[in-house]
Amino acid sequence: MNSYVDSAVNHYRALLEAQLERVERMNNAAPAKDFTALPVVTIGVIDGDGIGPIISRQTTRVLETLLKDELASGTIVLKQIEGLTIENRLAKGEAVPKDVLEEVKTCDVLLKGPTETPKGGTMESANVTLRRELDLYANVRPVSVPEKGIDWTFFRENTEGEYVLGSKGIEIPGALTMDFKVTTEPGTRRIARMAFNYARNNGKDMVAIVTKANIMKKTDGRFSELCHEVAEGYPGIAAEDWYADIVTAKLVDERVRTRFQVFVLPNLYGDIITDEAAQIQGGVGTAGSANLGDQYAMFEAIHGSAPRMIETGRGDYANPSSLLRAASMMLRHIARYDKADALDRAMDTVPHDGDTAKGFADRLIKAIEG
Ligand code: IPM
Ligand code: MG
Repeated sequence: MNSYVDSAVNHYRALLEAQLERVERMNNAAPAKDFTALPVVTIGVIDGDGIGPIISRQTTRVLETLLKDELASGTIVLKQIEGLTIENRLAKGEAVPKDVLEEVKTCDVLLKGPTETPKGGTMESANVTLRRELDLYANVRPVSVPEKGIDWTFFRENTEGEYVLGSKGIEIPGALTMDFKVTTEPGTRRIARMAFNYARNNGKDMVAIVTKANIMKKTDGRFSELCHEVAEGYPGIAAEDWYADIVTAKLVDERVRTRFQVFVLPNLYGDIITDEAAQIQGGVGTAGSANLGDQYAMFEAIHGSAPRMIETGRGDYANPSSLLRAASMMLRHIARYDKADALDRAMDTVPHDGDTAKGFADRLIKAIEG
């Protein structure tokens, strides 16, 4: 047993040192790139697995329609990125193969279909790897149901918390397993700043800080404190502490939930609660998701690769709505607001009606072309 303890302690020391280096890197981060003022925007398109290539193809067709002029003049470039498939990842034994990551890094923004995550084993989810490698620290997920007075925007911390060492836990066979959760000061401040900036720029007057600081006293306790510190720079915006369990309940309480506007949450609570919120909007297939960093941004469907749809021959009927909503968020991020509005308008008026992905895209394209 002692030898297990020794190796676990050594493992832990290495993890701690690596995390302190990450803190150092965040403290010395290069100034953020201005995505609204790039002379040429390179959009990388990653198809993903399962239904990914189907919804990605149709979303790309819609984008090609919207961006026709800029694609022709070269101020926007659409670049297909190959090789982020479960087959290639397993063959190379890498969550994101090196050559794929290199290609990804030549882009400014990415539009990504769902990628499969092998259960168990040691291979990390491609999402988690990309978020870390590109330092995409904010997962922004809007949920809106106007007729019910719901207009929520979630700012989920996307690079640390329970995820950063999620594949690096400790195991003493026959006795115990242990995972780690990490909250850093710069990592928390930057997500809090993004949430409060968003609130200020969009006329919101309350940010809910979601933790279990009553239980996870160190990590969540510090997360909440740092959010309150950041909040001091935003007079007029209330910072309210909410525990993750009760907020989960209140999102389905029609009398209370319309009070919520902006949320800031550690990674895992953000993962769980944004699925709940998306379901309230009509299902995870309806919500887009933005992964934002200072140098890169990745926009993706909130749902998985739905391998069962492919196995049962229903792949053509995959609904591209979530990826299309992600594309609209991407267009806003690169300041193509009128194009994003045109896409949202088409999505709001053209019913999906259980159509094939291609049939739905055809009708959207028709609506956009007027
Ligand atoms: C999400 C997904 C991912 C996550 C998975 C695919 C790794 O559930 O984007 O919410 O847990 O973050
Ligand atoms: Mg999730």
